[in-house]
Amino acid sequence: MVEQTAEDLVWTEARNKELLKRQRRVAGENIFAGRAIYDQRAIADLPVVRLSVAPEGEVVPQSFAVLEECQWNALPSKKLPMNITWQQSLPGTWDFSFPLSADARCMALGERFSGLDVRGAVHTLCTTDETKHTEFADSLYKAIPFLIVTEGSESYGIFLDSAAVQRWDLDAELDGTARIELFSRRGWQLYVIGPGKLSDVVNAYTQLTGRHSMPPMWSLGHQQCRWSYPDQKTVMDIAGEFRKRKIPCDTIVLDIDYMDEYRVFTASKERFPEFDTLAQKLDAQDFKIVTIVDPGVKRDPKYPLYKEAVAENLACKTPDGEDFTEEVWPGVCVFPDFEKSATRSWWGRWHEFYVKRGIAGIWNDMNEPAFFGLKRVLPEVLTEMPAYEDQPFTQETPEGTVGHLEVRNHYGMLMCRATHEGLNQLRPNTRAFVLTRSGYAGTQKYAAVWLGDNNSWWSHLRMSIPMIMNMGLSGIPFAGVDVGGFTGDCSAELLVRWYETGIFYPFFRNHCRMGDRPQEPWAYGEKVEKLIKRLIETRYRLLPYIYTLFWEHGQTGAPLMRPLSWHYPEDELAWECDDQFLMGRDILVAPIVEREKTRRTAYFPKGRWYPLEGGEPLEGGRVHLIKVPLGTVAAYVREGAILPLADVMQSTRNYATAPVTLTVYGAEARGTLIEDDGRSLEYGQGTYNELMFEYKNGALTSRYLHEGFAAPPRQFFLMAGSRRTPFLLRNSS
Ligand code: GLC
Repeated sequence: MVEQTAEDLVWTEARNKELLKRQRRVAGENIFAGRAIYDQRAIADLPVVRLSVAPEGEVVPQSFAVLEECQWNALPSKKLPMNITWQQSLPGTWDFSFPLSADARCMALGERFSGLDVRGAVHTLCTTDETKHTEFADSLYKAIPFLIVTEGSESYGIFLDSAAVQRWDLDAELDGTARIELFSRRGWQLYVIGPGKLSDVVNAYTQLTGRHSMPPMWSLGHQQCRWSYPDQKTVMDIAGEFRKRKIPCDTIVLDIDYMDEYRVFTASKERFPEFDTLAQKLDAQDFKIVTIVDPGVKRDPKYPLYKEAVAENLACKTPDGEDFTEEVWPGVCVFPDFEKSATRSWWGRWHEFYVKRGIAGIWNDMNEPAFFGLKRVLPEVLTEMPAYEDQPFTQETPEGTVGHLEVRNHYGMLMCRATHEGLNQLRPNTRAFVLTRSGYAGTQKYAAVWLGDNNSWWSHLRMSIPMIMNMGLSGIPFAGVDVGGFTGDCSAELLVRWYETGIFYPFFRNHCRMGDRPQEPWAYGEKVEKLIKRLIETRYRLLPYIYTLFWEHGQTGAPLMRPLSWHYPEDELAWECDDQFLMGRDILVAPIVEREKTRRTAYFPKGRWYPLEGGEPLEGGRVHLIKVPLGTVAAYVREGAILPLADVMQSTRNYATAPVTLTVYGAEARGTLIEDDGRSLEYGQGTYNELMFEYKNGALTSRYLHEGFAAPPRQFFLMAGSRRTPFLLRNSS
């Protein structure tokens, strides 16, 4: 299924050798002597058991993932659910195991290059700049030690809260056993959630680790990126093309070349001489700007950021106390130690540079952290956390100095936390938009994510579906992949098909690599442009529904893109589908993800499903052969739903006043709409409307479940069957 290069094969061989060596490792005796506290509480009505462990002389490290502590109660028996056993096998190695029955499925576990079921493989959790993305790829950019195990319609969640390197073997030996190796010399916490429904487990997990707040409305529009638009003229031209061609777009994203020799918090005077007013100019055309910010700080004695990092001791250190240096885009760099709260505040304050210039959002990249020289941070054969003095550098945690590998998996998340907090301080009451490549459990509190350097391959379009679903099940709803693929030349057909799926990615951005074929919607001629324009317009029409789904996420932790089994846990076939997904409860999407295909089979759960593009409904509870001509959307709406659909707009600047059509599917239907200002934090104080619509006996009624926002006037329409009639919003109760 996946294109493989000779280099990949050599690499795979090396990896297999490593695996063989690893398999010979036996757990040995339990040497644990320290403190282990078992306690419990209910979250989202599910039992949650917590085990907090600290080796002798150590404390349990502060968690950067879990929200404020609540009351936990002692667990009478020292037994973990799911028959989980654990022991310390070496001073730097912990072993866990639990049985997996033949029917158990494994999901979530963050960013895995895998189908929805991640069972049957070994998964290393060590944040990595993995550029290959073949099916042999192991660690990727994010490391999220949260797994959901489901049997029948019952699920458990297992969250091993440690930012140290971990290896999860999910029955790779086919002996019905899952084994986790945690390579750490420090303490950790393990949470076991459930049993319960899949949706309840995610609800509880996201209560524990936090949820994404309401995103700024503009960030849900189409974002256009390129490594790189080389100068301000090109940026203005790209923006102009969108408006001239009437292709909706909200954001132009600036990659590394806007900077002065890749120094973060600077702009190139040659290529962007008017960087100070660029955002203002684009704002006049209803565009926002997002700029990339990498963690590497150029080693340059004249560069204020570098001078401060050194003078104030804010960078990561080698074991002998020197500033650790490595090469990245700017050349030799130092790396902020985001474990330190002083570093986070300092980094946050520097964002004044962007805020003052009207930059709307920040894109944190290379924050695994990635290095050009030191490609492999792990020892070749990993059986134990190396001694701190044998690690490339150390970091200052709240508990003291540790080797980097103990906290590596936090690095990206703590960077985007610093960014998020900085933006909130500098622009209080404005929703921060941060995008990150690396992340750990709880990253959803600070950032949206994209899944890194994919290829312009059909297999990567296909994989984006289970991968984004697993991100959502791991608590991170605001996710997407580069539409069209980052590496390689995208074909016209692939780009159109990619947009057919991409308009449903919560984070929706077209991005591609330097030197590859340009991928803007108009880059392939008129016919393709027309198809893509219509698809992007569909995204904008769906915005009221998508925005309301973010609200739902805030209430229940539900991801936007979710597996069919989320709503149909009793339906065995629903569990099998991972090249289709639900967008919220009401839209089922079964896109074409193969070349030269215009038909595919798709499974529809019980009920009736109406094609979003119009036409006769399909009877659910069975597989259908559906026709999907190039440029059409393979989306179906659940009978009983009312979708709020906006009129097409060129950017979300016009969202608040765009007419909304309440589109009714079936003879009896219900729908919800959230309205607020789309940019401030005031919804948190009740400044929002929650509207409920009900269609019955040929009439639509509306009701405010919450009315706290004076919405600017907009027209509402009712669409039932093929008739669109004006609808007057009022409280019918
Ligand atoms: C990394 C990012 C990619 C970006 C490039 C240059 O490869 O993943 O999105 O374009 O760096 O900054």
